[in-house]
Amino acid sequence: MRGLFVTGTDTGVGKTVLAAAIAAALRGDGVAVATLKPIMTGLDEPAPAQWPHDHELLARVAGRQPGEVAPRTFGPAVSPHLAAELSGTPVSSESIEESVREAATCAEVLVVEGVGGLLVPLSDDYDVRALARALGMPLVIAARPGLGTINHTLLTLESARLAGLKVAGVVLTPWPRDPGTIEESNRETIARLGAVEVASLARVERAEPELLRRAGRSLPIARWLDGAR
Ligand SMILES: Nc1ncnc2c1ncn2[C@@H]1O[C@H](COP(=O)(O)OP(=O)(O)O)[C@@H](O)[C@H]1O
Ligand SMILES: [Mg+2]
Repeated sequence: MRGLFVTGTDTGVGKTVLAAAIAAALRGDGVAVATLKPIMTGLDEPAPAQWPHDHELLARVAGRQPGEVAPRTFGPAVSPHLAAELSGTPVSSESIEESVREAATCAEVLVVEGVGGLLVPLSDDYDVRALARALGMPLVIAARPGLGTINHTLLTLESARLAGLKVAGVVLTPWPRDPGTIEESNRETIARLGAVEVASLARVERAEPELLRRAGRSLPIARWLDGAR
């Protein structure tokens, strides 16, 4: 399965924006790209100002339907294992992994957005890291540019490598137009201590595919994919 698994150091760190920018850039280059959010929670909550819900944005950039992008959705904005428990429909690893494989059949490249961070439970004995491992896709890690990101990003890298996951790169997002000493130092420090390539994604003003494509073009997507071969 050729693709990328976009995870993050936390929830709300820019995974969806990053996954959408990657997909928009690939599509702009004529690549048949599919996007997938295998489990989605929080549909009861309004989407943040200016940004649609994850599955709507991921659908928009790949020319898919939101229902195709997110085959399993839950209303409450809680951890997926709890959302599934509350709904009375537990998540099974087989059904989740099958939905990812199915999405991959219609695309040259599949961009999967994880849920929260790597150790978020999907059920009592299954988590996001186990899903990423089963899929065998390289990880791209979305992280904040500012204070606190070194610890969160190094923890995520350690957790990924402990499970044998291949890390394609880290992306600091949204990268300020005029980065200061903290951001520049964070980028260099994460690259050095984490032994990882660190890229950045500029702030995208609106949820428009063209703006996402322009921002995504600066990411080393081909290298991430080729390095994964
Ligand atoms: N490159 C970016 N451009 C614009 N906004 C960003 C960017 N990266 C992160 N954000 C902001 O962070 C918020 C959370 O991003 P999102 O992609 O939804 O995170 P996650 O998927 O990790 O929960 C967005 O609503 C947006 O305000
Ligand atoms: Mg998201």
